[in-house]
Amino acid sequence: MAKRIEEAINIIKMNDRGGYTVPTNRLYPYQWNWDSGFTALGIWHFNKWRAWLEIMALLDAQWQDGMIPHIVFRHNDPDYFPGPAIWDTNTEPPTSGHSQPPVLASIIWRIVQMGTEYDKRKAIEVFPKLMAYHRWFSAARDPKNSGVISIIHPWESGRDNCPDWDIGMRNIVVPDNLESYARRDTSHVDSDQRPTQEQYDRFITIVKFGRECGWDNQTIHAEGPFLMADPGVQFIFLRASRDLLAMAQHLGMDMAVDEIRGWVDRVEAGSDFLWNEEVGGYCARDLRTGQFSDAITNASTLSFFADVGSPEQRASMAAHCRRILDASSFGMPSWDPDHPAFESQRYWRGPVWAIMNHMVISGLEDAGLADLAARVRRDTINLIDERGMAEYFDPRDGDGLGGMDFSWTAAIYLDLNKTEVAASLAAGG
Ligand code: DGY
Repeated sequence: MAKRIEEAINIIKMNDRGGYTVPTNRLYPYQWNWDSGFTALGIWHFNKWRAWLEIMALLDAQWQDGMIPHIVFRHNDPDYFPGPAIWDTNTEPPTSGHSQPPVLASIIWRIVQMGTEYDKRKAIEVFPKLMAYHRWFSAARDPKNSGVISIIHPWESGRDNCPDWDIGMRNIVVPDNLESYARRDTSHVDSDQRPTQEQYDRFITIVKFGRECGWDNQTIHAEGPFLMADPGVQFIFLRASRDLLAMAQHLGMDMAVDEIRGWVDRVEAGSDFLWNEEVGGYCARDLRTGQFSDAITNASTLSFFADVGSPEQRASMAAHCRRILDASSFGMPSWDPDHPAFESQRYWRGPVWAIMNHMVISGLEDAGLADLAARVRRDTINLIDERGMAEYFDPRDGDGLGGMDFSWTAAIYLDLNKTEVAASLAAGG
């Protein structure tokens, strides 16, 4: 078996904690929502049963109101902060109090399209849970039916410290009585590759607010310290809803079709709210003040993944993609390298991420931008071939950053090389 394929499978197996997979050892010792989704896709290429177990474990932590939380705590690990006591969600299993980009329906639809009757049966089994999740996102994060999906914490975007959130974070007042706490992330990873302390105080301020109002979504949406719209969550929700619609039709779930169409139509129309004329692209926007972020991110370029925009808007986004990909040989960076706030090594303020590249590739392929899609695909595979399965990478020189032996990077590598993986397993690798 090719060395990297074997390594990818071994990393995922090594991160298996018995029914669920951690993103990486120590830095992230629990089950994360979108990590698990992407990881399930990777596992599926070598063990279909185990891939579904990953998905079922995540769904097992779904709240009664339909939310799938961003972290599931099945034990208490002093190596991670903030742990279950800080979130205090009073759920079983204990979890965090908000969600993460809803990639799950898209991943399951991809599996069903590649899979067999077994996958179809599993998809039928989880379909009501996916419906409940999308219903929750629509109701809790867009209570006025505006078609704009909000996030209540930068962590809900999954792009924790992106400069997109600086506008909303600036307006957060850190209370004098914020509990003192000790970060753990910077004892596992170089602090230059992680969010700053100032940002962490604000992250924890939002958690404190959520905890103190009992994670009541109405209160959080109306009065919480942070409320922004994220092109990432907006476009991922829209794409996942389109995929859910295709899946409903494929599985004969006719009674779900109208409800899903409602989400698709509304969120598609609402996406124009994120169009920043000055940038000529989709940008994050503060929902309290209306202020726009002012740069193209890898999440902006998911507009193709979501299939939104007028012909002029699509042309402008394609031009941004070309310009940015000319400056990065490793796929789409998390912040525009031509913008002064770009930091090539700091987490979501510049680095490239395999999972984002993976969604970017799908979007560019669907949009008929085949040359760009092929480039991001080739660059992502080469990057991992040369640098291994780091959490994220420096877009200037491809240096691997953050946590190492990372499950979702390994999973994306397996999915991008799925023909080789299948051939290698068939040959008894
Ligand atoms: C972390 O701990 O950095 C996570 O990204 C929060 O979900």
